[in-house]
Amino acid sequence: MSYLLHIDATSFDAESISRRVAGSFLDSWKGEVVHRDLAAVPIPHLTAAGISARLTDPARYTPQEAEAAALQDELVEEFLGAAAYLFTVPLYNYGMPSSFKAWLDQVVIFGRTYSMPDGPPPAAGRPALVVSSRGGSYGPGAPHEGRDHLIPNLRESMERELGLGLEFVTVELSLAPTVPALAQFLGLHEASLAQAHAQARKHGADFALRQDGAAA
Ligand SMILES: Cc1cc2nc3c(=O)[nH]c(=O)nc-3n(C[C@H](O)[C@H](O)[C@H](O)COP(=O)(O)O)c2cc1C
Repeated sequence: MSYLLHIDATSFDAESISRRVAGSFLDSWKGEVVHRDLAAVPIPHLTAAGISARLTDPARYTPQEAEAAALQDELVEEFLGAAAYLFTVPLYNYGMPSSFKAWLDQVVIFGRTYSMPDGPPPAAGRPALVVSSRGGSYGPGAPHEGRDHLIPNLRESMERELGLGLEFVTVELSLAPTVPALAQFLGLHEASLAQAHAQARKHGADFALRQDGAAA
């Protein structure tokens, strides 16, 4: 049976809200997990050698291209070996943390993980949950509605290109307990957090069922 690839992109450790909500998913997921913590072990940014290696015969690699290609191979094989995905990606400066972008740039590869010459991308249709905590509120009707550029970006790169069956669980107003100006939103934050844990648990159970179904 294949594994769940679980990638954490929050810089915070146990106090991270996204990590704790991901924990509710994992309570329901009983299968094997491969865990990558991008705060503990950051992925290097994609270099010029990493890009040129994608277009070069391995027999002609420079030492820099060989090193960059080995890292991409490791990350792509880990990505493609998974049956399902769990990502914690909090909102940083209206987008994804740079740690996650670095990982994404290493695995989104034309003709290898997306835009295949014939047929869908190799990870097409696999279930993937993104847990994203954010200090403010970006839902319908909120003053900041439309300023969350993380979800639209991941829909382009991970859903449209990689073909993942992407689901999102968000926790809003996470700064309400600590920022006095947001204290009035504490109730909304607590409701959002409780809902996120429940949704994450349900996704974990659903993903596990699909995995069992595929194995049967
Ligand atoms: C570097 C940085 C940038 C942030 N930028 C935003 C932002 O643009 N919008 C927002 O609503 N919250 C922002 N926040 C707040 C985080 O999204 C919030 O604290 C979230 O709960 C972090 O997730 P975590 O608890 O899982 O680490 C930012 C936090 C950090 C550390």
